Amino acid sequence: MRQAPVITLDGPAGSGKSTTAREVARRLGFRHLDSGALYRALTVALLSAGIPEEEWPGLPKEAFDRFRIWLRPDGPRFQVLLGDQVLEAELRTPEVTARVSPLSALPAVREWLLQAQRQAGAEGSLVADGRDMGTVVFPDAEVKIFLTAELEERAARRFLEREGRPPEDQETAAEAGKIQERDERDSKRAFAPLKKPEGSLEVDTSHLSFEGQVEVIINHVKVLTEK
Ligand code: CDP
Repeated sequence: MRQAPVITLDGPAGSGKSTTAREVARRLGFRHLDSGALYRALTVALLSAGIPEEEWPGLPKEAFDRFRIWLRPDGPRFQVLLGDQVLEAELRTPEVTARVSPLSALPAVREWLLQAQRQAGAEGSLVADGRDMGTVVFPDAEVKIFLTAELEERAARRFLEREGRPPEDQETAAEAGKIQERDERDSKRAFAPLKKPEGSLEVDTSHLSFEGQVEVIINHVKVLTEK
């Protein structure tokens, strides 16, 4: 086992990947890569450049070279930059969330973003979360986790995170509809679909506390890395 492992966390929307990955990284003194932020950054770039959405599927990989999307190490995380601008709130607008999944199904997009992700993991000590971290980006990662939770639970968490209050029943249903649509698209696409990586530990967080799920993962990391 290498001294500085890469830990991958994949899973559907709202399964708690990013918050869990951030905490696991913090406890281990590793850096956290939120790969979804890169797909979101490219969505922001295309929207800001005014490139009509109908044209996105036809764009060759080279067309994205005009955008300088890059990761800057910043303590326990990476900032995502577009040129000199650090992207934060821009990444999570409803406009971006609605468009990121179709964009990320395009092979040219996935290829274009691959290098930045691999570079982030080149020295190990990384916790990377996304959809294809354990399958495509870091197939040799020492520890792979697949995080799941029941749809309604994921919808409720998402709503609470965004609105700052628990949802009413019909609000949970509406959120679940949006999440399910995105999950299906992410799971059915031809390139790098969301699926459980071989050799990964599946953790269903529906009935686990946040602390509980972090513990399960940390223990698994210890078992595998102390071998
Ligand atoms: O946080 P949430 O799960 O809602 O989304 P995210 O991690 O920010 O990812 C947004 C979208 O980017 C996903 O729905 C996927 O379509 C895409 N994505 C991907 O295709 N591959 C990744 N490794 C990460 C994200």
